[in-house]
Amino acid sequence: MSSVQEQQVLEALTRVMDPDLHRNIVSLGFIKNMQIQGGEVSFTLELTTPACPVKEQLKQQSIDVVAAIPGVTKVQVQLTAQVRATQHKVATDLLPAVKNVIAVASGKGGVGKSTTAVNLAVALSQSGASVGILDADIYGPSLPRMLNIAGKPAQSEETGKLLPPVAHGMKVMSMGFFMEEDTPVVWRGPMVGMAVEQLLRDVDWGELDYLVIDLPPGTGDAQLTLTQKVPITGVIIVSTPQDVALSDVKKGINMFKKVDVPILGIIENMSYFLCPSCGHRSEIFSHGGALREAVAAGMNFLGHIPLDTTICENADAGTPIVVALPDSPQTAVYRQIAAKVAAQVATRQFEAKQFPTIITE
Ligand SMILES: Nc1ncnc2c1ncn2[C@@H]1O[C@H](COP(=O)(O)OP(=O)(O)OP(=O)(O)O)[C@@H](O)[C@H]1O
Ligand SMILES: [Mg+2]
Repeated sequence: MSSVQEQQVLEALTRVMDPDLHRNIVSLGFIKNMQIQGGEVSFTLELTTPACPVKEQLKQQSIDVVAAIPGVTKVQVQLTAQVRATQHKVATDLLPAVKNVIAVASGKGGVGKSTTAVNLAVALSQSGASVGILDADIYGPSLPRMLNIAGKPAQSEETGKLLPPVAHGMKVMSMGFFMEEDTPVVWRGPMVGMAVEQLLRDVDWGELDYLVIDLPPGTGDAQLTLTQKVPITGVIIVSTPQDVALSDVKKGINMFKKVDVPILGIIENMSYFLCPSCGHRSEIFSHGGALREAVAAGMNFLGHIPLDTTICENADAGTPIVVALPDSPQTAVYRQIAAKVAAQVATRQFEAKQFPTIITE
């Protein structure tokens, strides 16, 4: 019996499509290290993110199509991921080793932006990606409390750069590390941009797949300066379902569109209430408004996060729920959203490479 040919295996694998990138896994360059010995086939499936939402599905489909080739007796597939770097339209020497910057924004304060940013960042980190998180909310920094980090960061003797403390595998930086607690700081828009630029430039972030930035709430000057200074891959908008929050979402969408920052999608936080004792689900704020806004604006909807006391209790105690209760349904929601975000980043990079930028003015 003749041995299986590499060409046959590749041909079979062209039938496996990546549902986000709409291309087959061979043309996407995902197949690496193919080895064939008689009827035994092994290869690596190198995805664009370790948080890929369909990685097990792609692996199983690959095994199935190759196993169906006559003469194949064994198929071994190893899953790996290599996060690609986004090419920015504006050249910048800020963060040269950071592949993707994901900003988390909200039109209105207090909607759970920081809680969401922290849990998504931890979920990305737990998937195997290298992750940093920057608290750009210099008016009311919350990461020191949410991640239970105190004190000023050390400085590298060699480079003079600040060494970000590490929490749950993520590098963390916050203006809160340099401020007295409960001391309000008065910042004007341009100063915010400068302060945040320093937290990017003067911090030893090293190589990162994703840097998550918790932006200050609102869509004013401060956010505008930031989006112009920082090479943002895409922004996630967090909203609660009330009308007043949703009308601010529209403002946020318009602002980011104006400055040409891609919107990765919208999240509805405190979407519905799950009773901790009986599990009953109450739609306290007429849930689903953010989904409607997202659809109306042609935006991607990333998911609903319930209003849940375990989410705020763990955030307030300094351990994000994704770490404190890794097997809870709430954690599953954050993981699903993190996977969608990572898939969006990969999709946008791929689309940017496929199509030339068309300027219509
Ligand atoms: N899904 C949720 N369920 C329950 N409590 C939540 C949820 N999300 C956030 N919270 C709580 O709501 C409060 C506000 O959240 P958070 O600080 O994350 O909001 P924010 O949008 O970052 O606020 P700010 O505008 O002040 O930066 C916190 O006490 C937090 O623990
Ligand atoms: Mg906040």
